[in-house]
Amino acid sequence: IQRTFSIIKPDATKRNLTGKIISKFEDAGLRIVASKRIQMTREQAEGFYAVHKERPFFGELVDFMISGPVVVQVLEGEDAIAKNREVMGATNPENADAGTIRKEFALSVGENSVHGSDAPETAAEEIKFFFSDDEIVG
Ligand code: GTP
Ligand code: MG
Repeated sequence: IQRTFSIIKPDATKRNLTGKIISKFEDAGLRIVASKRIQMTREQAEGFYAVHKERPFFGELVDFMISGPVVVQVLEGEDAIAKNREVMGATNPENADAGTIRKEFALSVGENSVHGSDAPETAAEEIKFFFSDDEIVG
C-alpha cells in the first residue's frame, strides 16, 4: 500500500469541481486518508515548487497557485502514485487521454486542475510539507 500527495488547484476549486475530482480518485480505488482546503501563501507555493524555480513559467505558476483556495490531500492505495497520475492525465490537457481529470476539466497546461507526486521520495516530502502525522488517518 502506497501513499501519494494531491492538490486540487484553484482553477478547479473556483469552478466547484472538487467533488467531481475526488470521485475520480475514489472510482480509481484511491482512498482519501487526509484532506484540507487551504489558501496557500506565496512562501508556501514558492517552497513547494522550488524544483521549478529556474523554469520560465515559475512566476506564473506561483501566482496561479495562490489565486484561490486549493484542496491538499493524501491518497492511499495499491500503486497510488502511478494510479493517481493515470487518473490525472498528461500535464497538457491537449495530450491527456479521454476520461482523465485533465482531459475533462483542465483549462490549459498551467491551469491543469490537479497536482500529483511523481515518485515515492517526492510523495513523502510533499505529504510532510502540508500534513502532520496526526492529520493522516488511514
Ligand atoms: P504536477 O503534478 O503539477 O507536478 O504536474 P506535472 O508533473 O504533470 O508537470 P511538471 O512537474 O512538469 O510541471 C509542474 C506544473 O507546472 C504543471 O502541473 C503546470 O501547472 C505548470 N506548468 C508546466 N508547464 C507549464 C507551462 O508551460 N506554462 C505554465 N504556465 N505552467 C506550466
Ligand atoms: Mg511534476
